[in-house]
This record gives sequence, C-alpha cells and structure tokens, in this order.
Amino acid sequence: MSVLFVNACVRSGSRTNRLARYFLENISEKVETVNLTEENILPLDGARLCERDLLLKEGRTDAPLFYHARKFSKANTIVIAAPFWDLSFPSLLKLYLENVSVSGITFRYENGRPVGLCRAEQLVYITTAGGPMFSDFGFSYIKTLCNVLFGIKKTFCFKAENLDIDGADIESLLKAAEEEINHFFAR
Ligand SMILES: Cc1cc2nc3c(=O)[nH]c(=O)nc-3n(C[C@H](O)[C@H](O)[C@H](O)COP(=O)(O)O)c2cc1C
Repeated sequence: MSVLFVNACVRSGSRTNRLARYFLENISEKVETVNLTEENILPLDGARLCERDLLLKEGRTDAPLFYHARKFSKANTIVIAAPFWDLSFPSLLKLYLENVSVSGITFRYENGRPVGLCRAEQLVYITTAGGPMFSDFGFSYIKTLCNVLFGIKKTFCFKAENLDIDGADIESLLKAAEEEINHFFAR
C-alpha cells in the first residue's frame, strides 16, 4: 500500500474534505481511503480490551480486530483530514487512533520505551476551523503520536482558519490553504 487517506470529515460539503481532495489530486500513487463515518470503529471497552490483550499475547496480529492498525503500519504516506472540533478533532478520529495504536503492529516497546513500527515517511494532517485555532490539540497530538509512538518522523499540517466568522471570504481562505499545498508539492 502506498497512500492511506483517513477521512474524519463529517459534514456533506466539508471544507476540510475539499482541501484533502486538493492535496490528494497531486499524488500519483494509489490512494486507499478509510471513511470514518462509514466504519464501525468501536471504543476499547473492558471486553474488547481483554480480547485485544489475549490476541496480542497469542501473537495473532492478523486478527480482524487489527485490520486498521495493519493498514496504518503499512502505508508509505498517511493523509488525515479532520475538522477542528472543540479545539481538536471529532471523536471518530480518536476512536480510529485508539484502534491503530497497537503494541506489536504500529509500535513496540524496547526497554520500556516505544519504538515505531510504521512504514510511513510522512503524515499530512488537513483541517479547517470556524475561528482562529488558538490552541490546537488536534495536530499537536497527532504530531506527538507520530514522533513518540509510530516512528513517523515527518508531519505536516495544512489548515484554513476563521471560516465561520461573519463576513469571512471562505473561498479565498480555502484558496490560500490550497496555495500552501501547491508550495508543498513544488518543493
Ligand atoms: C461539533 C463542532 C465543534 C466545533 N468546534 C470548533 C472549535 O473549537 N473552534 C473553532 O474555531 N471552530 C469549531 N467548529 C467549527 C468548525 O471547525 C468549522 O466549521 C470547520 O470548517 C468545519 O469543517 P468542515 O467544513 O470540514 O465540516 C466546530 C464545529 C462543530 C460542528
């Protein structure tokens, strides 16, 4: 697998999804999409945690429970699109990240410290916000996960802010973000 697109956009007509599509149009490799609104990703409650622990103990990383973790670990590039919700991102994305953060698949422990097992050289995070993003617990969290857990060294963020402010020129704000994307591919 080459490019994994994790789509956490919820609204039809999502501006975040528009930016993500713009980014992906520049990519020639095959893109595999995971639409989180169409996946039934469940939280790790007591029963699922026990099941997961048992499977890992038995080395059964090929179990269906680890489908998303396996995909995530094998992608060369990961693109995540998520709107800025409540200073971070929709809980759907947290559920996904909880499901892909699996010791033995996306990272492992060595002398008590996590070592990344993901193949991806880069992760690109795309977001849009209604107002200014004073505190971004979205991208900063993803970036830390990549660095500390997954071993993905390069992380990039493209964003458009202030889209819901009265009188905002939404089109030019989105175009400015697309221009940033153009610069990225022109490097
Ligand atoms: C549930 C929810 C929470 C939001 N929280 C914030 C927020 O904390 N800060 C902000 O600036 N905008 C917030 N917004 C506005 C969205 O970030 C903004 O409309 C964004 O562009 C939506 O992206 P989309 O067009 O891809 O759906 C929120 C919107 C929703 C629906």
